[in-house]
Amino acid sequence: MQFNLFLFLLFAPVLIHSLDPVFNDDVLGLIVFKAGLQDPKAKLLTWNEDDDNPCNWIGVKCDPTINRVSSLVLDGFSLSGHIDQGILRLQFLQTLSLSKNNFTGTINPDLCHLGSLQVIDLSANNLSGAIPECFFPSMWLSGRLPSGIWFLRGLQSLDLSDNLLDGEIPEGIENLYDLREISLNKNRFIGRLPMDIGGCLLLKSLDFSDNFLSGSLPESMKKLASCTSLSLQGNAFTGVIPDWIGVLKNLEILDLSANRFSGWIPKSIGSLQLLNKLNLSMNQFTGSLPEMINCTKLLALDVSHNQLAGNLPSWIFRLGMQSVSLSGINVSRSNYPSLTSITASYHGLQLLDLSSNTFSGEIPSNIGVLHSLQLLNLSTNSVFGSIPAGIGELKSLYVLDLSVNELEGSIPSEIEGAVSLNVLRLQMNFLTGKIPSEIEKCSALTSLILSQNNLTGSIPASIANLTNLHYVDLSLNELSGSLPKELTNLSHLVSFNVSYNRLQGELPVGGFFNTISPSSVSGNPSLCGSIVNRACPAVHPKPLVLNPNSSDSTGGSSSANHRHKKIILSISALIAIGAAAFIALGVVAVTVLNIHARSSMSHSAAPIIFSGGEDFSCSPTNDPNYGKLVMFSGDADFAAGAHNLLNKDSELGRGGFGVVYHAVLRDGHSVAIKKLTISSLIKSQEDFEREVKNLGKIRHQNLVALEGYYWTPSLHLLIYEYESRGSLFKLLHDEHGRGILSWRQRFNIVLGMAKGLAYLHQMNIIHYNLKSSNVLIGSSGEPKVGDFGLVRLLPNLDHCVLSSKIQSALGYMAPEFACRTVKITEKCDVYGFGILVLEVVTGKRPVEYMEDDVVILYDMVRGALEEGRVEQCVDDRLLGNFLAEEAIPVIKLGLICASQVPSNRPDMNEVINILELIQCHSEGQEELE
Ligand SMILES: *[C@@H]1O[C@H](CO)[C@@H](O)[C@H](O)[C@H]1NC(C)=O
Ligand SMILES: *[C@@H]1O[C@H](CO)[C@@H](O)[C@H](O)[C@H]1NC(C)=O
Ligand SMILES: *[C@@H]1O[C@H](CO)[C@@H](O)[C@H](O)[C@H]1NC(C)=O
Ligand SMILES: *[C@@H]1O[C@H](CO)[C@@H](O)[C@H](O)[C@H]1NC(C)=O
Ligand SMILES: *[C@@H]1O[C@H](CO)[C@@H](O)[C@H](O)[C@H]1NC(C)=O
Ligand SMILES: *[C@@H]1O[C@H](CO)[C@@H](O)[C@H](O)[C@H]1NC(C)=O
Repeated sequence: MQFNLFLFLLFAPVLIHSLDPVFNDDVLGLIVFKAGLQDPKAKLLTWNEDDDNPCNWIGVKCDPTINRVSSLVLDGFSLSGHIDQGILRLQFLQTLSLSKNNFTGTINPDLCHLGSLQVIDLSANNLSGAIPECFFPSMWLSGRLPSGIWFLRGLQSLDLSDNLLDGEIPEGIENLYDLREISLNKNRFIGRLPMDIGGCLLLKSLDFSDNFLSGSLPESMKKLASCTSLSLQGNAFTGVIPDWIGVLKNLEILDLSANRFSGWIPKSIGSLQLLNKLNLSMNQFTGSLPEMINCTKLLALDVSHNQLAGNLPSWIFRLGMQSVSLSGINVSRSNYPSLTSITASYHGLQLLDLSSNTFSGEIPSNIGVLHSLQLLNLSTNSVFGSIPAGIGELKSLYVLDLSVNELEGSIPSEIEGAVSLNVLRLQMNFLTGKIPSEIEKCSALTSLILSQNNLTGSIPASIANLTNLHYVDLSLNELSGSLPKELTNLSHLVSFNVSYNRLQGELPVGGFFNTISPSSVSGNPSLCGSIVNRACPAVHPKPLVLNPNSSDSTGGSSSANHRHKKIILSISALIAIGAAAFIALGVVAVTVLNIHARSSMSHSAAPIIFSGGEDFSCSPTNDPNYGKLVMFSGDADFAAGAHNLLNKDSELGRGGFGVVYHAVLRDGHSVAIKKLTISSLIKSQEDFEREVKNLGKIRHQNLVALEGYYWTPSLHLLIYEYESRGSLFKLLHDEHGRGILSWRQRFNIVLGMAKGLAYLHQMNIIHYNLKSSNVLIGSSGEPKVGDFGLVRLLPNLDHCVLSSKIQSALGYMAPEFACRTVKITEKCDVYGFGILVLEVVTGKRPVEYMEDDVVILYDMVRGALEEGRVEQCVDDRLLGNFLAEEAIPVIKLGLICASQVPSNRPDMNEVINILELIQCHSEGQEELE
């Protein structure tokens, strides 16, 4: 779309409504338009109001499909007069071009309501007034400013801000003798300000900020006596502020910040008595500030980041300003006012920035009298003493930066009163004591930076209530204790640095802490967890509440009337549970997440686009290994880029090894993508790729296929086939799981799992992490064991790594995991398989928590078998529809597989043989019946 220029009309109201309504609207509109014009060359002679339609009139074109006027082009017709309301009748007008005529008046802003209008060219006329907003397309303007723009003589306001205009601003602006406001800010203009800009004598407001303009201020500007606002910040202007600035007596806002002005600030600036805001920051001004005592209206002064020297004039704190920024101005220490004198006289202060100076002194205890204070920045000075409790009276305080000073004492608990606090920076002082837990009241905090002090005590769990926190840095203190688990609630964290303290115990698991960088927690020798590559000691927390009374009562026959007998925890079960608890973190969470993952798979619809290589182009790395994607099935179309898929929407769940995402490829093919969170532990790229490729070779109908992987030094993805029916866990335990598995389906699942595992073992791979949520159900109901072999990606496979990495669910973990002296073999999978068999047959979880007790599936089934009523264990949702001659031997097989002693367990090939025998035998019996 192309938009040229315009301007408008003091139109004479036209009596449209009195005209005969049988007229076609287009004819009517054009006749009304013509009626308001002088047409000295009789160009519009063919426009005859008796015609039925105007499509053959000169300058007029119609859209043939609707027979309505779509284009009106009257360039160079020597017409004069106003562009009046008649045009507004042309509802289907797309092109309006009236350039090179003598139209006068303003542009009717109602033209914007002609919805079809695409091209407007009103250039080379004598129009005036404002340019309707719709003349600028919603997309940004770009290109150069045409010098023709200065011929819009009546123009009073020109706002082309925030576009992509570039090139130089053309000379000739003085032609706009009526111009009051010009805003060309936020473009890409280069070169100088137009030399003749002072010709626009009525200019009140000039905004050229945020461009690439250079050179010095044109002298003609001294004629801009009406000017109230001059904004030139964010350019590359040079030279001095000329003395004549004092002539611009009406100046209220003068912003020359962030340029390359230099020299002394002229004394004449002190005669700008209406000055309200003066911003000279970020230039190279030298010398001292001129006397400005007569600038009684001054509210905001910012001269920070200059090379000022000499005395800081006394008037600064006598004018009653709201905002004073004197950061980094290099004046000598003795010249600062004391903060006490400020609090004594200066209660309206909203912003005080004295940072990066040589300011020395204490923060007065009555700081609270500055009740309007929003920003207090005293950072990088020599402020000493302690932080007064009065800081809590500053209810509006938004930023408090006292960093890099000599403050001592503790952070006062009264800080809780500063309820608006957003940024708290106290780093690099000599603060001691604890982080006050009361800080949780500062609920708006986004940044909490307390590093490099001498803070002690533990990190209060209450900061987990500061849910807006983005940046936390507590590094280089003497903090001790463990990291509160609740910190994982902080969902907006971008960084969390607690390095170099004396923290101990386990790193929290979940949320931000799954991906925290190791350097953020380093230097705490007693912290453990996978991120710091240090296994946590084998603590045996109490995962279960044992009720001694219940164990007494279950000893006798009194329990027989219980439908589900509550079982005493046997020693062996305790070992098994202890082993599972030993791996401690996220035991329950992982199971839950897996349920969630599988159940959300079915309705995760948002397709992920694998956008092209540009995802990587922003990375400066030349590492040839960067972003290596390998698909084993050779789907080249896929090999484009994978970063974008890792967004929260597609997340399926999190586990010990990583986060799982669902993604739909370009060809509509779904995959599950596991982003490994164990990257810091992963072997070299070479080893990783070798192991992953080996895993990729494992293809079996009862194993989830690894389809590919993606490697960068910091990001490792595994790409798996995706099974939309979800997991065995979901089918067995999720109330929303569709339908009840029949006995035949259950038997086939048991057999299929056995085949998958046998194949794995044949390939010398131990699964280690077998559980029903890791068994997916394929499209024809066949089980597919997933999540195997990941341990091979880690170095130094031992019990510790296993225990901290494999977050197996409670109950599936073979007892030998708890015993450091026993070598772990593939028999640990047979144990897990045995438990799975019991789970499939009974429909119950391996460990079920009752109100005040715990039921261990294995013990319950074994007890029932011993009492000769094992049939009662079969899932009652089957309503008796099962073959006892299959179910009972299958249950027995499950119990044998889950033997405590590894050598008592059969190997998986034997298991398959037994299952086939059971099936064969029962079929034989069926036939006999
Ligand atoms: C516009 O009108 C003026 C006189 O009113 C005339 O001198 C000039 O030539 C006209 N311009 C055009 C382009 O017709
Ligand atoms: C523009 O219009 C004004 C009056 O509105 C007239 O004085 C002037 O001559 C016109 N300029 C041109 C170039 O037609
Ligand atoms: C002064 O200008 C700088 C840079 O343009 C800006 O960051 C600062 O906020 C301004 N100061 C005030 C008080 O407006
Ligand atoms: C301030 O104003 C007074 C009275 O108008 C005048 O005498 C004095 O010179 C002015 N001071 C400065 C620094 O402009
Ligand atoms: C911390 O305190 C010790 C003595 O208690 C002192 O030597 C050290 O300098 C202090 N460190 C900081 C950063 O204040
Ligand atoms: C967070 O705030 C709630 C409500 O004030 C409180 O019950 C809870 O204990 C707090 N959490 C922490 C970790 O302090």
